[in-house]
Amino acid sequence: MRVAIALALGGLLLAGAAPAQDAQNGRKVAGMCRTCHGLDGYAKIPIAPHIGGEPQSYLVEQLTAFKSGTRQHEMMTVVASGLSEQQILDVSAWYASHTATAELAVGANPEDAPQDCVACHGTAGISELDTAPNLAAETNIYIDTQLKAFRLGKRKNEIMSGVAADLTDAEIRAYADWYAASKLTITAPVEAN
Ligand code: HEC
Ligand code: HEC
Repeated sequence: MRVAIALALGGLLLAGAAPAQDAQNGRKVAGMCRTCHGLDGYAKIPIAPHIGGEPQSYLVEQLTAFKSGTRQHEMMTVVASGLSEQQILDVSAWYASHTATAELAVGANPEDAPQDCVACHGTAGISELDTAPNLAAETNIYIDTQLKAFRLGKRKNEIMSGVAADLTDAEIRAYADWYAASKLTITAPVEAN
C-alpha cells in the first residue's frame, strides 16, 4: 500500500515537474538574441543588459513577464512574444550556464558601495540572490531607466518597487554610476568551447 502511494505520488510529482531544459538548444535560440545581448550574454548595445551568468530563474521570470506584458519594452516584448515556454527555459539555461564575475573599478573603495543595495546586488554588482540580477557593468543608462521604471510603477516588483520609491534622481545617478564602473567578465561553459 505504501509502495503504491509512493509510486502514485512519484508519478504526480513527475507529471507536475517543470519540463527539462536544454542549454544546447538554448544556444540555437540565442542566435535571435546575439545582435543585442551577444551569444555569451555580454551586451552589444548600451540599452540592453548583460545577461550571461544571470540566475536562470531570473531570466525565465523576465522573459515570461515580457511575454505576458507585465514588463514592457518595444524590442523585448516583440522578441519574447515569439518564444515558446520551452524556448524560454532553454535560452535561459544557455545564458545561465555562463559564469559572471566582476571587479571593482580601479581605485574604487568597497566602503563607498551603495549600502542599501549590496545585500542583494553585491559590492561589485554580482547578485547574492537567485531572484535578483547582476548589475556589474550595466550601462548607467540601463540602470537609471530601470530604477525610474520601478519608481514610476511601469515595472513592478515586491522588493524593488519599495526600494526605488524613495530614491532621488541624484541617488539613482550615483548608484547607476557605481555599478556601471565595475568590470564584468563572462566565461562560457566548458562544453561550449
Ligand atoms: C533588438 C535588440 C534585442 C534583441 C534581439 C533581444 N533583446 Fe533582450 N533586451 C533588449 C533590451 C533593449 C532590453 C532592456 C529592456 C528594458 O529596458 O526593460 C532587454 C532585456 C532583456 C532581458 C531582461 C534582463 C534584465 O536584466 O532584466 C532579458 C532576460 C532578455 N532581454 C533576454 C533576451 C533573449 C533571451 C533574447 C533572444 C531570444 C533577446 N533578449 C533578444 C534588447 C534585445
Ligand atoms: C532585498 C534585495 C534587494 C535590494 C536591497 C535591492 N535590490 Fe535591486 N533587485 C532586487 C530584485 C529581486 C530584483 C529583480 C526585480 C524583478 O524581478 O523585476 C532587482 C532588480 C534591480 C534592477 C533591475 C536590473 C535589471 O537587470 O533589470 C536594478 C537596476 C536594481 N535592482 C537596482 C538596485 C539598487 C540601485 C539598489 C539599492 C538602492 C537595489 N537594487 C536594492 C533585489 C534587491
